[in-house]
Amino acid sequence: MAELALRGGAPVRPQGYPAWPVHDERDVEAVAEVVRSGHWGGFPEPGPLAAEFAGRFAAYQGSRHGVVMVNGTVTMEVALKALVIGWGDEVIVPALTFAATPYAAMAAGALPVFCDVLPDTLTIDPDQVEAAVTSRTRAIMPVHLGHQMADMDRLTEIARRHGLALVEDCAHAHGQRWRDRGAGSFGAFGSFSHQSTKLLTAGEGGSLITNDEGLARRAHSLIDCGRAKDPEEKEFTFGANYRLGELHAALLLCALERLPGQQAQRAEAGRHFEQLAGQVPGIRLLPPDPRITRWSFYRYIVLIDPEAFAGAGNRRVCQALEAEGVGAWEGYEPMSRYDLFQPALSRLPVAVEHATRLDPARMSFPVAEDAGLRRTVYLDENVFRAGRRGVEDAVEALAKVQRHADELVEAGT
Ligand SMILES: Cc1ncc(COP(=O)(O)O)c(C=O)c1O
Repeated sequence: MAELALRGGAPVRPQGYPAWPVHDERDVEAVAEVVRSGHWGGFPEPGPLAAEFAGRFAAYQGSRHGVVMVNGTVTMEVALKALVIGWGDEVIVPALTFAATPYAAMAAGALPVFCDVLPDTLTIDPDQVEAAVTSRTRAIMPVHLGHQMADMDRLTEIARRHGLALVEDCAHAHGQRWRDRGAGSFGAFGSFSHQSTKLLTAGEGGSLITNDEGLARRAHSLIDCGRAKDPEEKEFTFGANYRLGELHAALLLCALERLPGQQAQRAEAGRHFEQLAGQVPGIRLLPPDPRITRWSFYRYIVLIDPEAFAGAGNRRVCQALEAEGVGAWEGYEPMSRYDLFQPALSRLPVAVEHATRLDPARMSFPVAEDAGLRRTVYLDENVFRAGRRGVEDAVEALAKVQRHADELVEAGT
């Protein structure tokens, strides 16, 4: 008889994990109040609740200004445009991320230049960043992936030495701190997503944070159809409507109240997980960089050794974990595999030089490819919001899938 739930066995955690997003009557009332007020939209920009949230969230991350908008992709596009980065410019991004990061560079008109990631953190490799800098490079966009942060010591130093802007993709890093400095506050801009699965969500939404008042003003203009934001300077930008509505802002204000408690809970459960999961054969942990001084993670990434799972890869292991009742996802494909970045497949209207630079034959990222295609298992955030027992069940599910790995293979796919 089969043991794995995938093949009809009893699941380790039939009751599953707490739902996300967390909400209660406070959220209902906050939204109802906006409905009653009749002030639903984001115009005039920013709406009062959008402004309140943007200010509070920026302060929480340790930045002076916040600008809230429709999602965490246009945030990065707006950041680059605010920095006047566009045609002919190059922007360095990691090869292991969501497509939104390089897409944003392209949407601004710039060329994304990919770098491989470090094997111990899966974040951009600073040595490769250094090697990728050319006379056209204008910005570095590191991504704080899963439960890690990119090496902000090295990256700030490289950016300073080459005169490059830093735009941090913090879609996974609400609340994280590096040497007591908030994620997103190291360079010109920090970009956050408030999409459904993220740690601070209203279903959709995005935030930019910055310490530079002029850049904040330009970002406000860019998301508000280019309207001038300083009556003195009359600066008008090439903008569009990326404003966030007040219903979303009301939800974000409620979510921000809960974030610190949820984050402390996940960090404590994460440490318990690390004590136990390291003993599971075939599982490699990537301990958080010790320079992370407030740990707040989106998903916890472990690496599997396919040899120890009867040759099964991360996708199959995630299916088995899901069947056991533990939310798991195999994560991002390396960017070298994305159709979007292969001109012949995506039919991008790119210039010849762009097409040459994006030639898939020239894109080789051994660490990102090995991790993303075979090894990464991203455990859902809710595994770390269900007490010690929640974590113990997830570890047992990992161990069980490994013990009965032969069933993964027999079950096919
Ligand atoms: C690393 C990363 N960057 C950017 C984004 C884009 O955010 P959004 O979905 O809000 O556009 C996401 C999430 O979806 C992400 O995971």
